[in-house]
Amino acid sequence: MRHSMQILKPGIAYHNVEHLWFLTTKNTSYVLGVVPDTGILLNLHWGPRLVTMKDINLPIELPKERSSQDPAITAAREEFPVFGGLRYGPDLLRAKFENGTRDLDLAYVSGEVENDELKILLLDRIHQNFQVQLVYTLDIENDLIVRQASIIAAETLNTYKISKALTAAWHIPPPANSSHRELITLAGAWAAETQVQKHSLQPGTSHVLQSVRGIPSAQAYPYFAVKDTTSDGEHSECEVYFGTLGWSGNWEIEVHTDIEGNIIVTGGINSRDFGCSLMRASFDLPVFVAGYTADGLSGARKSITNHIRENKVTQLISEPDTLAPVLYNGWEAYGFDVNITNQMEIARKAASLGTELFVLDDGWFRKRNSDKAGLGDWYHDTRKFPDGLKPLADYVHSLGMKFGLWFEPEMVNPDSDLYRKHPDWVYHYYERTRHLERNQLVLDITKPEVRHYLAERMLAIIKEVGVDYVKWDMNRPISEAGSRLGEEVWVAHVKSFHALVMIIKMAGSTVQIESCCSGGGRADMSILKKVESCWPSDNTRPDARLMIQYGSSLVIPPEMMSCWVTESPNDDYFTNIPISYRFHVSFMGALGIGSDLNKLTQSEFGDYKEWIRLYKRVKHIVQKGDLDWLVVPPNVNKLASSPSSYTAVTQTNSKKRDESIVLAFRQFSPFWLPLRPVRLRGLIPYAVYTVTIWKTDPRTPVYEGIMSGGSLMGKGLNLPYLTSKAYSSVVIYLKQMLDD
Ligand code: DGJ
Repeated sequence: MRHSMQILKPGIAYHNVEHLWFLTTKNTSYVLGVVPDTGILLNLHWGPRLVTMKDINLPIELPKERSSQDPAITAAREEFPVFGGLRYGPDLLRAKFENGTRDLDLAYVSGEVENDELKILLLDRIHQNFQVQLVYTLDIENDLIVRQASIIAAETLNTYKISKALTAAWHIPPPANSSHRELITLAGAWAAETQVQKHSLQPGTSHVLQSVRGIPSAQAYPYFAVKDTTSDGEHSECEVYFGTLGWSGNWEIEVHTDIEGNIIVTGGINSRDFGCSLMRASFDLPVFVAGYTADGLSGARKSITNHIRENKVTQLISEPDTLAPVLYNGWEAYGFDVNITNQMEIARKAASLGTELFVLDDGWFRKRNSDKAGLGDWYHDTRKFPDGLKPLADYVHSLGMKFGLWFEPEMVNPDSDLYRKHPDWVYHYYERTRHLERNQLVLDITKPEVRHYLAERMLAIIKEVGVDYVKWDMNRPISEAGSRLGEEVWVAHVKSFHALVMIIKMAGSTVQIESCCSGGGRADMSILKKVESCWPSDNTRPDARLMIQYGSSLVIPPEMMSCWVTESPNDDYFTNIPISYRFHVSFMGALGIGSDLNKLTQSEFGDYKEWIRLYKRVKHIVQKGDLDWLVVPPNVNKLASSPSSYTAVTQTNSKKRDESIVLAFRQFSPFWLPLRPVRLRGLIPYAVYTVTIWKTDPRTPVYEGIMSGGSLMGKGLNLPYLTSKAYSSVVIYLKQMLDD
């Protein structure tokens, strides 16, 4: 008897007999199907790749009811659970109909696969114009399922009021062999962003991750990873389910673990003060991407960062493969005290160091001598720049650098001409205090006239001056969100912000954008796909940066992660961190210099220059390769006496694995224990590599030798250079030797 095995290939396959879809990526499978005669859409598998359609047991059934207090539909792994019926688990959607019904009852109607996209339509059984379309696409190489959904009010004269609309529910089965799972999150605060946290996932508990500030925020990053509790979970033999939201506004991700260990992760636009009325319209929900890997957090990091790199919005990013320039930004050196003379002077010095992009930060526009005035009046300050900014930009260009300029478009100081003229252009309630933060209010950019003013001002300056790069800041959250749009304002602000970014980018110039937001506050996947760069934190202390970059690197591709060197001791006079350590930390992403170059000694200036020269030699590897953490940065979970406590090691391999950069850091070694050899990863075992190691002197390596990939990965690399001295670090460059 011949069996049709129905072998699964990467892509989306439909079963033909049952309503059953197999979504197959390089290493994973995601299967969904409809329970016959019920219209209920279930997730049937998510995890390791299946081989054939027969790997799913038919018929598709609802789980057995445990008791009358535990309805089957609550226990079922519904793809899109809503508020309605006997559902007591997490829900994605809540709606109210004009007749007063507040209960949804959606049923499957159709599923279509077209252009590598699966679209599933669900209808309310009574109010059939109330529809939900689920959309699934795959990132096959990166093992990701990309989910979107739209709420549709079709051909109706009724208004549907939506009070909650999340994008997706992800079902994570209980672990097969290991008994326990934990949740990884990224939390923080200003100057302490993207701290990696671990939470035990106890049965019967829920975790809420969210932002309600109108921006993704520094306080929590829209990311989750659910991993086995084995080891630190960075590498193989560790299963991880992970995901991130593409939404530059209020968001929520909830992780619920039931008593049997089943996990459901829901996520999308935050429900706080959310509302949407639909009549003959549809509402598209943000993208929620998730994946499964058996390669630990390093596998998860690789998937998301590569997904972002490979899915840039092509209309906006004309050359996604370009390397990020080495930047100089004088904010830490000058604050608001900028003028044509000091900026030309510092630009000259920056150029002689070898920087490739010079950014004029805050302080260049009218009355901007502190953070108390000027925001909104986007005209150069004639006292600081009597002939405008063009002479500076021309000078910067003549030095061979690009010219960047700081804006904070969505903001206004009450002490500004713009606010005096248009006090109604900010979010407010007429009867309430307009609360200031950093002395500023938020402009209602959902108003076309506000967007028009901002676009006109920004584009005029970009054109007149010759701006190549915009640093786009946002230094306060949204509050008192009074607007003609009611609760819809939170979503409209995000859409208006993205529209403004599109206008600036598509106005015929090739202007690049850095998403700043006080550092790390607006760096979600949706904006990362539209801009070139991102500022992960205002904190440039290298020991803090190691932790912040460890967290950021789970999502932000290294070429987008702007990493500045600033001078030491800065504001902590007890800790003098060597220049070499500062550079080595910043070598991990897109190198920038934020130091006051006037304060550097001649020898320090020389060292800066040489480190920059070395960085330029290897930036194609660190920016475009796969960043991996061999030893995760110092954290409280480690024994202080362990040789690797206070240690961190990264490795970035080129895609061809013929070149690699290893950065190793030893912050302290209070017990003088020698470091254990570091085992590298991902090299070609039979290839021979030249190994060059620099420590504090960028001109003279401390080691030059030859080793095989197998030995570097098996025996490991000894690093006696990381001594008992605080803040020891090295850069290691590996290059495959080719046969003659
Ligand atoms: C916050 C940013 O993160 C800083 O880099 C700087 O641009 C300031 N704003 C300027 O006000």
